[in-house]
Amino acid sequence: MDNDVIGIIGCGAMGSALAKGMIKAGCIEPSLLYLYDLDKGRMIQLAEELNANTADKPADFIPLCKHIFIAVKPQDTEGLLYAIKPFVQPDQVYISIAAGITISFIESCLSSGTKVIRLMPNTPCLIGEGTIALSTGDAVTDEERREVEHLLKSIGLTMRLPEKLMDAATGLSGTGPAYVYLFIETMIDAGVSVGIRRDVAAKMVVQNVIGAARMLETNAQHPAELRNIVTSPAGTTSSALLVLEESGFRSCLIKAVREATRRSEELRLG
Ligand SMILES: NC(=O)c1ccc[n+]([C@@H]2O[C@H](COP(=O)([O-])OP(=O)(O)OC[C@H]3O[C@@H](n4cnc5c(N)ncnc54)[C@H](OP(=O)(O)O)[C@@H]3O)[C@@H](O)[C@H]2O)c1
Repeated sequence: MDNDVIGIIGCGAMGSALAKGMIKAGCIEPSLLYLYDLDKGRMIQLAEELNANTADKPADFIPLCKHIFIAVKPQDTEGLLYAIKPFVQPDQVYISIAAGITISFIESCLSSGTKVIRLMPNTPCLIGEGTIALSTGDAVTDEERREVEHLLKSIGLTMRLPEKLMDAATGLSGTGPAYVYLFIETMIDAGVSVGIRRDVAAKMVVQNVIGAARMLETNAQHPAELRNIVTSPAGTTSSALLVLEESGFRSCLIKAVREATRRSEELRLG
């Protein structure tokens, strides 16, 4: 087995983000990447774009791979796992991004002792700016985990978490971009309501979010410290913050994350 060969099963939104990210970042040579999807058109299109290999069936590429990414929908995962089981080898690492599918479930469908890593990515992975929660099965060594973390750097920031927090990671960060989009959408409407043209408001709000996030990233300060700097005595920010506090802005967001976490627990398989 060539230890650098990577297989990606499922060439949809997340599978292609992984493939494109790893190649763009130079983590892998296109000739060492195998793509596989039931949707042959989708698979061939991605392979042509990246100069990567395609496979007609699992038997053609799984035995060659060190890392195999499973990027099909959760409901398709169990069938896929049983289909690839005959080709699993003990030194391979299987990396699943299927929401709600536990490591023990994957191990039980493949063979006990199979090396399994579970991820919860989010959509900014599509542009290399994702957040990826990562949990490892017992059979995965530290070195194997680091190898996978290195590959994932191409699509975003990896955070190691115990698997029991994967539903929380789903509620906070898998779902997270949707909260930010709703905030941005609402702020644009707010800009329009105070007289700013929609296209201008949109640019201002998006830059506000990027700028505020970069300030946090650059200064390593607590958000409250940066907020205090904007809040002058009896000023506009202070008036606005009072309204947000009275309207339960914080408790509303906390409840939303808790509810998403609860729903993720409800959908969990295994
Ligand atoms: N998108 C997100 O924001 C996000 C975030 C976190 C986690 N995830 C996880 O990422 C995974 C992939 O999501 P996605 O949005 O990328 O899905 P997607 O766009 O639907 O892509 C999945 C692809 O896998 C193919 N497929 C299904 N069963 C297969 C099989 N047995 N063998 C080979 N290919 C098969 C599908 O083909 P057909 O269409 O022909 O079935 C489809 O082309 C999901 O498990 C999801 O939970 C997604």
